Amino acid sequence: MTIPALSGVEIRPVAHCAQLEQLLASCDLPVADLTTSQALQLFGAFADAELVGVVGLEMYPSVALLRSLAVAPALRGKGLGDRLVRFAEQRAEAQGVASVYLLTTTAASYFEKRGYAVATRSDAPEAIRATTQFSGMCPASSILMVRHRAS
Ligand SMILES: CC(C)(COP(=O)(O)OP(=O)(O)OC[C@H]1O[C@@H](n2cnc3c(N)ncnc32)[C@H](O)[C@@H]1OP(=O)(O)O)[C@@H](O)C(=O)NCCC(=O)NCCS
Repeated sequence: MTIPALSGVEIRPVAHCAQLEQLLASCDLPVADLTTSQALQLFGAFADAELVGVVGLEMYPSVALLRSLAVAPALRGKGLGDRLVRFAEQRAEAQGVASVYLLTTTAASYFEKRGYAVATRSDAPEAIRATTQFSGMCPASSILMVRHRAS
C-alpha cells in the first residue's frame, strides 16, 4: 500500500462493509453487533477509495458510546485516530449529546490525553449500561471512560 498524505484523507459516514469489518477484526475489536445495533453510526476515513480508518458512535438521547476506533497500521501515528475521535465528538455534540462514553481494554491512556476520564461502571447511564458493548461484548475488565461536553 502506498502511504497517503493525511491531508488527502476524508472522513465521512460509511455503511457496514467487508473492508470495515476486516479492519476492526484485525484490531481485535468487536464486530458481531455491527449490523444489529440500531443506534450505531459509522464513519470511515478514506484515502481515495480505500478505507484507512473507522470510528463508531452509538447515539442515545443525551449520551453516546464511542466505539470501533481503528486506524490502518500504515497510517498510525499521524493524527488520524485523533481526527476520527474529534469527528465523532462533533457529530455527537451536533446531535445534542452532553457526554461521550467509551470502553477500552488497551487504550485508556490514549483517551486520557484526549479529555476522557475513567468512570465507575455502576454510575453509567442506563442507555450505556444497556449497550451490547457494556453488557457483554467488551470484557468485564474493560475500562469505562467519559468526556463531558465543555459548558
Ligand atoms: C488507537 C489508534 C486508533 C490510534 O490511532 P493513530 O492514528 O495512531 O493515533 P494518533 O496518531 O492520533 O495518536 C498517536 C499517539 O497515540 C499513541 N497510541 C496509539 N495507540 C495507543 C494505545 N493503545 N494506548 C495509548 N497510546 C496509544 C501513540 O503512541 C502516539 O503517541 P505520541 O503522539 O505520543 O507519539 C490505533 O493505534 C489503532 O487502530 N489501534 C488498534 C485499535 C485500538 O486499539 N482502538 C482503540 C480501542 S478502544
